[in-house]
Amino acid sequence: MSNTIFVRENGPFIFKGNIVIEDASGNVLLEDNEAYLCRCGQSNNKPFCDGEHKTCVFTDTAQFNDDKGEVISTEASIPEKEQQLVVSVRDNAMLIAKGPMTIQNEEGSSLTTRNKAALCRCGLSKNKPFCDASHKTR
Ligand code: FES
Repeated sequence: MSNTIFVRENGPFIFKGNIVIEDASGNVLLEDNEAYLCRCGQSNNKPFCDGEHKTCVFTDTAQFNDDKGEVISTEASIPEKEQQLVVSVRDNAMLIAKGPMTIQNEEGSSLTTRNKAALCRCGLSKNKPFCDASHKTR
């Protein structure tokens, strides 16, 4: 199963595929085929989206360019463990996603492939959906 991170306009990340969400210590928070993770920084149930982005009026077009895109392997012969997308939730910082993934907005007008990505979950990055270390300024 291929992994896709959909970047929703004015809303969360929607992870689809073989997804494992871990805390910074490696404890598994969720293992599923779908996960909604907050990227506005205001959820009361972080790292998950609880709909708060509508109240805080989070705005992001979900349009992006990626100059660090990588080729990902899509061969079915790859062991399942290596096809997982493991997302580490860093304390007071970004999401680190590791594994083969496509990152795109919902209409597919912005799209890239990666094997590793640091993703913004504070809502402040000027390079969304990627982290630019703006969380340190909070
Ligand atoms: S993106 Fe939904 S609560 Fe933050």
